[in-house]
Parts: sequence; structure tokens; C-alpha cells
Amino acid sequence: MSETSPGLPIGILAELTHRCTLQCGYCSNPLELLKADRELGTQAWTSILEQAADLGILQVHLSGGEPTLRRDLPELVSVLAARGVYSNLITAGVGVDARMVASLKAAGLDHVQISFQGARAETTELIGRLKGAHERKLAAARAVREAGLPLTVNAPIHRRNIDEVELFIELALALGAERLEIANVQYYGWALLNRAALMPSREAVERQIGVVEAARASLRGVLAIDFVASDYYARYPKACMGGWARDAFMITPDGTAMPCHGAASIPHLTFDNAARTPLADIWARSPAFEAYRGTAWMKEPCRSCERREIDFGGCRCQAMMLAGDAAATDPACSLSPLHGRISGLAEDEARGAPAPIRYRRIGAATEPA
Ligand code: SF4
Ligand code: FES
Repeated sequence: MSETSPGLPIGILAELTHRCTLQCGYCSNPLELLKADRELGTQAWTSILEQAADLGILQVHLSGGEPTLRRDLPELVSVLAARGVYSNLITAGVGVDARMVASLKAAGLDHVQISFQGARAETTELIGRLKGAHERKLAAARAVREAGLPLTVNAPIHRRNIDEVELFIELALALGAERLEIANVQYYGWALLNRAALMPSREAVERQIGVVEAARASLRGVLAIDFVASDYYARYPKACMGGWARDAFMITPDGTAMPCHGAASIPHLTFDNAARTPLADIWARSPAFEAYRGTAWMKEPCRSCERREIDFGGCRCQAMMLAGDAAATDPACSLSPLHGRISGLAEDEARGAPAPIRYRRIGAATEPA
């Protein structure tokens, strides 16, 4: 049990499907992608979203895979709108046209986030592996703005596009976005599989930070720029998901309720399914949610660290992957005994020629490289 009882959750990431039009090699979905026949139906999602509203959830991020591949998306948006829950669509944008935007807006959608794999068309095509993807994303972004919906441009950053950060800023400005998210790729799931293909150098990361800081200062009031730092070169880790089961969680396409994207990689955890267990019970009592909630589970150096309620020891899944113990300090932290080893590993990977990308699709992770 945690030392404190949980407060109320604020947000849910609803992964409606693992189906996707793109094949990005840094996808946060698990290596074992669920096929369409494992997805919950409209009724089950409606019940979950209603329960989320009852629980006091303020915002739901509708994500995937590609959530717009679900025909019932407007219906699900309208469930949230009817209950006053803020809805954010997280999309790659390639299948989004003005008609779809109009129908989602009419259903009550509040916000759209479109990811760009590159600021240049050729980078978007290389990373997403879809010809013409960039132009389709631009058209989607314009349709969103023309419909009067707020837009965030999301730019997942890695070795192949880290030199395009200035161009991403220009792109977000040209599209009339309110917000730009420069998010350095986090290495779990597909990104971990592709780490040697995606890891940028320390110099490139430092240069990027300078660009972002300068742009933030000069564009204050014009464009908000969120920045997710590169874990392997950081001094302190991020508070993954804002802290384990602290104010947000996620639901996978088959209804599995998890504290974060990577939680299934922690072998001893068992998860409840939101199609069978009431959401309020999951939030209050799910053993997986309780496992690393609060700070009582921490070991040294986190246990006595003054930052323990700032970053909550970093990412449990990364600790599992890199330290073999989900309760260990995230090796992204400079106070972890393993920190030097992982930053050295990142530097080695960034130094060599980049490995080929293994693209995300069903079965690809188990095929020979
Ligand atoms: Fe955060 Fe733990 Fe590192 Fe302290 S020792 S900064 S709590 S990860
Ligand atoms: Fe699981 Fe970070 S992805 S805690």
C-alpha cells in the first residue's frame, strides 16, 4: 500500500487503437501491437468515458495508434463534451480532412495535437514511412485552424531530425499553432528497439536546448514551446506521467488500465481491465497503481533525496529496463550508480553510423534485424 491515499485523477490517455497509418520507429505503443479485433467497442469506451467524468477527470487525450481510424471517434468525443470533459485529439494527421475536422468539432472536440516526424517532407516520409505524409499533415493542420480549433504541433526529436528544431519552430508559427512540443524521444518500447538508430549526440542535444531557450524568450506570448528533455543526457529524470498513478493514467485499446505506457514491461505487475472493473476501483485499489504510488516504495538514493516529490524517482519502466529493478532510481538520474553507464552507452551509440530503423508494424519486433 502507498503511504498516502490517492487524490483524484485529472487526466486519462485513452489509446483507442494500435492501428496506424504510419510506422514510426519510436512509437510509444508496446512491441506487441493489438489487432483491431482486440479493441473495445463503442459501448465499452462510452461507459469508461462516462465513468471518467463521474470520477472528476478533467481531460481525456484520445490517442492511438491513429485514433481517427475509429469510425466512432465523433461519438466518443460527444460523450466527453456532454459531460464537460476537455477532449484532446492526438493524431498523426494523415487521414484528417476538413470534413472530419468539422464533424469532430460539431461533436465538441476541444483541441487537436498533430505530430510531425520532420519539419521537412523528406524527414517525415523517412521516419513515418509514408509517401506524401507531410503534405497531408499540413492540410490537416490548416483544416484544424480554419475550423477555429486550437492546435499543438508535436515534434518527437531524435538523431535524424534534431537539426530541424529551428524549422519545427517556423513550421508551428506558419501553421498558426498555439503550442509546439519539442519532445526528445523516450527510449522504451519501439524507441528502445531503435535506440542505436535514434540516439542523438550530447552536442546536438545541447545545441537544441540553446535553440529552444532562445525561441521561448523571443516568442513569448506568440507560441508556447514545451520541451521534454533527452533522458540519457539529463542531470535529473522527468517525473514520468507526473508521478506513478498520481493524477493521470492510461487505458490501452483492449481496456487494460495502466499507470503509464511502459508498465506492462514490469513483470510482477497485474492490471485491471476498465471494461470489467469500475474505473473508481481501479484508481483507488488496482495493485499495479498502488505498487509505486507515493514515495514509500523508494530505495536510496531516492528515499532521502530532496527531489523525491518533484520527479518521484523518474521512470519505473526505465529503471526496470536499465537497472533490472522497477524500484531502483531511474538511471537517467545523475545520482543513480548506473548513470555513467547509460550516458556512456548513449554517447557510444550516437558516435557510430546510425543503425537502420526497425519500423513499427505487427510482427516487426520479432523479425531478425
Ligand atoms: Fe529524483 Fe531519485 Fe534522482 Fe533524487 S535520487 S533526483 S528522487 S531520481
Ligand atoms: Fe512507465 Fe515511465 S513509462 S513509469
